[in-house]
Order: sequence, then structure tokens, then C-alpha cells
Amino acid sequence: MTTFTVRDLPDLADTTAIVTGASNGIGRSAAHALAAAGAHVVLAVRSAERGKAAAAGMPGTTEVRVLDLADLSSVHAFAAGWDGPVDLLLNNAGASAQSLTRTADGFELMFGVNHLGHFALTNLLLPHLTGRVVTAASQAERRARLDLDDLHWERRPFKTLRAYNDSKLANLLFTAELQRRLTAAGSRVLAHAAHPGLVATGLYPSGGRRPSDLMLALTLRLLAQSRDQGALPLLYAAVADLPGDSFAGPSHLAHMRGAPRLIPRSATAQDPALAARLWDVSEHLTGVSFPL
Ligand SMILES: NC(=O)c1ccc[n+]([C@@H]2O[C@H](COP(=O)([O-])OP(=O)(O)OC[C@H]3O[C@@H](n4cnc5c(N)ncnc54)[C@H](OP(=O)(O)O)[C@@H]3O)[C@@H](O)[C@H]2O)c1
Repeated sequence: MTTFTVRDLPDLADTTAIVTGASNGIGRSAAHALAAAGAHVVLAVRSAERGKAAAAGMPGTTEVRVLDLADLSSVHAFAAGWDGPVDLLLNNAGASAQSLTRTADGFELMFGVNHLGHFALTNLLLPHLTGRVVTAASQAERRARLDLDDLHWERRPFKTLRAYNDSKLANLLFTAELQRRLTAAGSRVLAHAAHPGLVATGLYPSGGRRPSDLMLALTLRLLAQSRDQGALPLLYAAVADLPGDSFAGPSHLAHMRGAPRLIPRSATAQDPALAARLWDVSEHLTGVSFPL
């Protein structure tokens, strides 16, 4: 397959896909495409109202269920209410915060939502999973400096971008260690990560008047691809014939746009010892373990 598009999605009738953060942005586009291909799509969203509004514009069969990844009790409630197989879990939801913000459990928001919430969700749903786990990471992971001794920024001055980048590195390390554990357990479930490229979404602050805000707005206007295009790497990772722990992203312009293919990741994201340590810390923080 040279250029993957939504037309390359197979017939997904009789499959079930859960998409976190499907109320907006890239997740909404991915959920729409999966539903159009015949999957029963569960929009796992923190606002039922926004989820229903998104689902109303989607074809096929969809369902809205509440999941707030910033609250572990909500993650547990979502998983406890699950019955039956899940063919695809798309860990797409992402939070960004301009200042130090904490989840209901006291975690720094971006690490808490982007990594720990999905870590707990995936492990709780694993007994139901039959196909793939695809986690939205980012090539911003290359600028991460994950400090496992101060994950919640209690001892350092908070840096917004660093915290976001760290959470995206955690997404890649999580995927690698998840795949290692799945393989060791003899499971056929695959874990992949995907980078959507540069996409103008609610993730980026807008309306600011500082030079950096204006530069960001200009960059997005000139270089960003559409939300539907941004969903393609996630969809590619969900259905293409790929080895476990693949990382998909756009092919052009330093992986900011273009058709999806496999893309490289940093040496840090390939460090098995760091991935194993992060897994242990994540189990400790969430109280959720690998179930297989
Ligand atoms: N946009 C880019 O250029 C880019 C680049 C690299 C990676 N990514 C990744 O792509 C993924 C999707 O981001 P996006 O760009 O589509 O951003 P977005 O438009 O802001 O969408 C984020 C989605 O996550 C949901 N969400 C936020 N906090 C949540 C929580 N506590 N619990 C459950 N859902 C929550 C949002 O729900 P609401 O609708 O309720 O706000 C929204 O549906 C993220 O993982 C992001 O890191 C994006």
C-alpha cells in the first residue's frame, strides 16, 4: 500500500471500536471514519453533551459513554460497565494546560490524562481486547525530558511544553512496554502508537497577542493538515499490516503532514529500561496492573 486513505479501511462490520476524546478534533474524525467503515463506535468522552453532538453527525452505529481521564474513578466506572469484546481501543484523548493543573487524583493534568488515564483504561479493558490498542503520541516526544522522580512537578518550576512533551514520550514508552508484555503473555493483541502531524485543534492555545502566539497561529495556518488527515496515522495503525509497537505518522515536511507511514522515534523512546520503570511507576500511581 503506497498512500493510505480512509478508502483503504476494510469493512469493519461486526467490530467494536472505542475512541477516547471522540467529541472533538482528530478523535472525532477518526471515530467518524471508523463508523463509516461499519464499526460500532463507542465515543468515550468527558462530556455526554459534546459526545452526543459529535455522534449526531456520524454515519453507522455509534454510542456515547462518559469517560473522564482526569479522574481514575471515572476510568474504573467506564471499564466496569464494559461487557463483550473490543476490537480496537483508540487512546486518542489529549489535554493541554497553560499552567500547573491537577487531576482529581492529584496528578499533573497532561501526564494524568494523556498517559496515566489511558494506562489505567487500557489495562482494565485488556481482558476484553481482541485486536489493537493505538495510542496517540507525538513527535514532540523528541523534546521531552521525563523526570520519573518529579512526575507531578512538585519540586521544579512548571514548564507547559515540557510537561506535554513528557506525556507524549510516556505514550510511546507505554506502547513499547505494553507490546513487550502482550508478546510475553502469548497475546495476539497489538499495541501501536501514532503521531497525527500538525493539526489546528483545541490542543493549541488561540487568540493570544504575544509574538509566540502570533507565530504559532501563522505556523498552523501555513503548515497544518486537516483533522481528517490528522486521523489517518491513527487509522493506519489501527488496520494496516504492521509489526507490534509500530509508530505511524505523516510522511512529509518533518512528519508534520502527508500520507501516513512508519516514522522513527527518539532513542529515549526506545529505552526498554525506562519503559519498564515508567510502567512500574504507573502501576503504583494508578493502582492498576497488567492483567494477562
Ligand atoms: N493537533 C496536533 O497537532 C497534534 C499533534 C501531535 C499529537 N496530537 C495528539 O492527538 C490527540 C488528539 O488531540 P487533538 O489535536 O484532536 O486535540 P483536541 O481537539 O483538543 O481534542 C482532544 C480531545 O480529548 C478530549 N479530552 C481532553 N481531556 C479529557 C479528559 N480528561 N477525559 C476525556 N477526554 C478528554 C477532549 O474532550 P472535549 O471535547 O470535552 O474537550 C477532546 O475530545 C492528542 O492525544 C494529542 O496529544 C495532536
